[in-house]
Amino acid sequence: MNLYIITGSSKGIGKAIAEELLKDENNQVVGVSRTCSIKHPNYRHQPMDFSDVEAVEHNLQKIFLPYPEATKLVLINNAGVVGDIGYVGEKMPNERFEFVFDVNVIVPAMLMNSFLEVYQQHAAQKVVVNISSGAGKYPVDGWASYCASKAAIDMLSQTVQLEQDKRGTGVKIYALSPGVVDTPMQGQIRASDVSKFSTVEKFRQYKENNELAAPEEVGRKVAHFLQNTDKYTEVIVSVRDM
Ligand SMILES: NC(=O)c1ccc[n+]([C@@H]2O[C@H](COP(=O)([O-])OP(=O)(O)OC[C@H]3O[C@@H](n4cnc5c(N)ncnc54)[C@H](OP(=O)(O)O)[C@@H]3O)[C@@H](O)[C@H]2O)c1
Repeated sequence: MNLYIITGSSKGIGKAIAEELLKDENNQVVGVSRTCSIKHPNYRHQPMDFSDVEAVEHNLQKIFLPYPEATKLVLINNAGVVGDIGYVGEKMPNERFEFVFDVNVIVPAMLMNSFLEVYQQHAAQKVVVNISSGAGKYPVDGWASYCASKAAIDMLSQTVQLEQDKRGTGVKIYALSPGVVDTPMQGQIRASDVSKFSTVEKFRQYKENNELAAPEEVGRKVAHFLQNTDKYTEVIVSVRDM
């Protein structure tokens, strides 16, 4: 049995990955998000709000059950928020930085930490996929906290892979960019004001010109990637190359 823990499984990319994996009866999925939208015999939902870090800490053991029968254990840190779009120093409430970092960085780091510790002695093949973004590699005006949070995810992934290599555990860690995908997050991006985000029109054009990837297509590519991780030696990977 392969066990996949996927955060942000209620919509968008996370839901598409979960639904693709559930097509194989050998796969079990644990989904973690505030809401639940999947019903399947091999799916278990764990409600959690990542903006409440204390509550997440108290409930970590509900996610990482022993699963002694698993031959593969995978954590997909997918849940993410773009946060308030706007320029730093222009009526940006300070607590919004905390919100974006809690959901996009702090909780994924906590989950990765718990996953590696709880399953340290487990004989299963272990993989962690942290969903990153091109926005972690270049600045986008109006997205300061989002860009910074995804850059943090890239470096977190690279550092933890280095540590796993030093320990010789065989655990694989990836920071995976999904491309530009037609999800509710893109809807929020398109709805923003050009005075707070100069390239908003480009994102509206992606939708109008049908240039956004379908979540189902990304779900299929990520599921295929997860079956072929031996071919991917770099930590930073992109769905565009799959
Ligand atoms: N779409 C793109 O073009 C794109 C491009 C690059 C990278 N990404 C990355 O891909 C990942 C998925 O994005 P998406 O486009 O699929 O986003 P989405 O459609 O907005 O879905 C986000 C998911 O995260 C969960 N989530 C949000 N806030 C949460 C919270 N406070 N606690 C727990 N779960 C929370 C949501 O579940 P609930 O609302 O049920 O809690 C939902 O399932 C993100 O990390 C994003 O940064 C997306």
